[in-house]
Amino acid sequence: MYPKKSGGEGTCGGRRPFDSEEPFDNGISSKTEDNKDCRNLSAGIPTSSLKGSATIIFTLKNEVGGLVEALKLFQEKHVNLVHIESRKSKRSNSDYEIFVDCDTDRQRLKELTQLLRSHTDIVDITPVDGSTQLHDDLFGVPWFPKKISDLDLSANKVLMYGSELDADHPGFRDPIYRKRRKYFADLAMNYKHGDPIPRVDYTAEEVRTWGTVYRELNKLYPSHACKEYLKNLPLLTKNCNYSEDNIPQLEDVSGFLKERSGFIIRPVAGYLSPRDFLAGLAFRVFHCTQYVRHSSEPLYTPEPDTCHELLGHVPLLAEPSFAKFSQEIGLASLGSSDDAVQKLATCYFFTVEFGLCKQDGRLRAYGAGLLSSAAELKHVLSGTASTLPFEPAVTCNQECMITTFQQVYYVAESFEEAKNKLREFAKTLGRPFTVRYNPYTQSVDILKDINNINVAVKDIQHELDIVEDALNRISKHLRV
Ligand SMILES: [Fe+2]
Repeated sequence: MYPKKSGGEGTCGGRRPFDSEEPFDNGISSKTEDNKDCRNLSAGIPTSSLKGSATIIFTLKNEVGGLVEALKLFQEKHVNLVHIESRKSKRSNSDYEIFVDCDTDRQRLKELTQLLRSHTDIVDITPVDGSTQLHDDLFGVPWFPKKISDLDLSANKVLMYGSELDADHPGFRDPIYRKRRKYFADLAMNYKHGDPIPRVDYTAEEVRTWGTVYRELNKLYPSHACKEYLKNLPLLTKNCNYSEDNIPQLEDVSGFLKERSGFIIRPVAGYLSPRDFLAGLAFRVFHCTQYVRHSSEPLYTPEPDTCHELLGHVPLLAEPSFAKFSQEIGLASLGSSDDAVQKLATCYFFTVEFGLCKQDGRLRAYGAGLLSSAAELKHVLSGTASTLPFEPAVTCNQECMITTFQQVYYVAESFEEAKNKLREFAKTLGRPFTVRYNPYTQSVDILKDINNINVAVKDIQHELDIVEDALNRISKHLRV
């Protein structure tokens, strides 16, 4: 999944989390103010005007008056409701889930949730991106996950959901395909960190579609893909059963990546906002679709599908230097402003999705959008495409083309160089703190005061001691 629907494209045309569900029958209208509905739910793109907003999802028994009682608690705590929707709970047939978007402050939200917990089951509380931080003292900083399991709070905030396809989608008029998409969406929406990724029994039609894509692209890879890609693809064939007549299982691929680069895969139902998608990278988590594009157009898809993920992204994610580069973008995005996230998302787009590199004096593709599209892969190395060196400060302002080839492609000398450039660029983005990934706890340490920094320095000193010890031992060995 890549966040090509960037901040500037957030419109009311997106899907709301609870679309297509029947309204509740507790006697309360679910009418909402259109502009706020669009702002908070449809696009999923954070804006600075959302400070103080939060989203709460709680369950109610399907009993008359239950909702009224719950909403009285909001009134009691003077919490202003902005938007409310309901749907049947996926967890229990007799329950309803109530989705409430509200304007509040930290203290009132804390008191409200304590009260709500005594009356209802709270499924989720999420400060909307851009809102007041609720759980620590980073006041005014957009919410971001602090540990890997926090991704459970953002991974389901999809911009498009399951079978809700656009009218121009190849599968829009195919009820069987839409039902299948709903199946995949439900798999992803029910997933929690640490769960095994459900294995899918792909249909013969889906395997044929995958096979067509696989066959066409494999003709081009030897002459168009970067050497890291060509090194890792055979390993995926061997370890994850990549082949023309088999769609690899995400669970197997995730296990393979974990051993190679520390990345894991998390299934996702559709597009995430750039902020939520990039946050996953910070924890070496790649949000991946599991569905297959519509069979009527095997070489075209208006959205990322599992062919794009498995053939475009996965071989590079197995490369440690590329994994570091990807994580660097993710770490830079945590808690950054909307403008900074947008710049980082654009850098991601022109590297991880559409990046070129120079190897042995020739241009080669490493971007997943290229490596999963035969047409654009041919185009980009045809000699007619415009190229520029990857410079984050320049690249971040380039327009992302969604339905056509890119106007320009950016060339990295190496992933190491790209990572260093991105790290320097991230320093200019004005975040009042920095973060450091802790691989032992799979969490981020926030370096915002002397105590935090002292801990980091001690860790670095320990690492240097190990290096010094190793050098001394080598030195002694050489003298002997
Ligand atoms: Fe992608």
